[in-house]
Amino acid sequence: MEPKLKIVMISSEVAPFAKTGGLADVVGALPQVLQRMGHEVIVVMPRYGSIDGQRYGLRRYFDTMGVWMGNTQEWCAVDVANNDGVPVYFIENNKYFERAGLYHDENYNDYADNPQRFGFLTRAGLQLCQDLGFAPDIVHAHDWQTALAAAYLKIWHWNDPLLGRAASVLTIHNIAYQGKYGASNFDYLGLQWSNFTPDKFEDYGAINFLKGGIVYADAVNTVSPTYANETRTPALGYGLAPYLNDRGDDYVGILNGVDYTQWNPAVDKLIPAHYTVDDLTGKRICKAELQRRFLLDVNPSVPIIGVVSRLVAQKGLDLLAATIERIVNNMAVQFVILGSGDKGLESFYASLPARYPGRIGSFIGYNNQLAHWIEAGADFFIMPSIYEPCGLNQIYSLKYGTLPIVRATGGLDDTVQQYVERTGDGTGFKFWDPTPDAIYYTVGWAVSTYYDRPQHIAKMMRTAMQQDYSWEKSAAQYEELYARALRNKAPA
Ligand code: ADP
Ligand code: GLC
Repeated sequence: MEPKLKIVMISSEVAPFAKTGGLADVVGALPQVLQRMGHEVIVVMPRYGSIDGQRYGLRRYFDTMGVWMGNTQEWCAVDVANNDGVPVYFIENNKYFERAGLYHDENYNDYADNPQRFGFLTRAGLQLCQDLGFAPDIVHAHDWQTALAAAYLKIWHWNDPLLGRAASVLTIHNIAYQGKYGASNFDYLGLQWSNFTPDKFEDYGAINFLKGGIVYADAVNTVSPTYANETRTPALGYGLAPYLNDRGDDYVGILNGVDYTQWNPAVDKLIPAHYTVDDLTGKRICKAELQRRFLLDVNPSVPIIGVVSRLVAQKGLDLLAATIERIVNNMAVQFVILGSGDKGLESFYASLPARYPGRIGSFIGYNNQLAHWIEAGADFFIMPSIYEPCGLNQIYSLKYGTLPIVRATGGLDDTVQQYVERTGDGTGFKFWDPTPDAIYYTVGWAVSTYYDRPQHIAKMMRTAMQQDYSWEKSAAQYEELYARALRNKAPA
């Protein structure tokens, strides 16, 4: 049977191979779902030095592939691996990708050659389609790193027998990261100086990758309906609101799904015990194990609040830092924190266990198993984000019966239903003000509910665990977006 659509996704992160955040989870799961719906999907990503080729069964596919850039030719090799039935192609170029970090060195300094690295990745993704003889209907780009794919299709490949028909879709996972770089990179990127104008790539003298993608893509989306609305306003559009508004109905919000083969307490291979909505015995085991692992007092009746996060301004963890000590001094509650990022926040959260022994545990670093342990063992999960395009951890939390405490922004607002004290309805606790006080009082509300209205907590856990954010629904919306992109691409 002919596939319905041929789709190539180009991304800088794909789980499980390389991940810094939710982008990897999305591109690690959506292609498989689309494939099950009858489409043919391939994925292209860099072969970072950190990827263990043996572990994932990578094998050499092309020894050499030449890639034209604007003013030079580059070479790479191509490896391939199977990600649950979807081929993932790895662009291997030592100059650009043979280093530990994805975007920055160990001190969080962005690599200076990021515009070349990801411009090259994007060009290589399109070249690979040609070398494979894979004629895509849809080229799906993710974030600034590969946003230029949309532009290359229209500037370079408009008349190309293989790529000329392809429509482009750009998914924005976080509009604050736009890929702004010096104009001196423009020759290498090869986007033609006639396009270096404010309505396309030019942004106060710099090149803006994401802006170019928004202008050139045949359809654009972000990862929740509320964030789609928020980014249309100056406050959260980070300068790009006018360009999104120009796209009218071609810019939509599609909520991320969850890969419930990885994130479900009934089957999760990484947690100490399994559990389901009808039998929570395993969750009590997970809680005790979490308390032991983090050297907390092992006490089933004290609620644990979990954090798993990049430690960056977006996530509001500086606000939590300003009130967490007041919380543990005034409430009978424990915290478990897992995260890495900002050095100041890292050292603050690293210092807490010694000052609040038995009550606060923290691990600074990236650790997938601990992330699963916290989802399973905590009672609450806090995300005080300043903005949140979608957020995956609160959706995972729902499935684990770990009630989210969130700021009502973006995808957090779309996925968490406010607790109703009269009835016990809802799935979590929401607040609006981005302030330490709002966090303090909302945590207080959750903790007092835990102690005073346990029947409500039980009811909310039930409701939360029954929420279904599996990918099928979102993937159907991506199908509609692809159809829109194809209509926009077709000559009138
Ligand atoms: P973002 O993409 O903005 O970081 P999301 O909530 O969409 O936020 O996704 C974060 C993903 O990264 C989740 O899968 C989460 O478990 C994971 N994650 C974040 N920080 C860590 C960490 N320190 N260790 C392990 N996993 C982490
Ligand atoms: C970004 C956003 C996050 C979203 C993820 C996946 O990293 O910060 O909210 O869930 O992308 O789309």
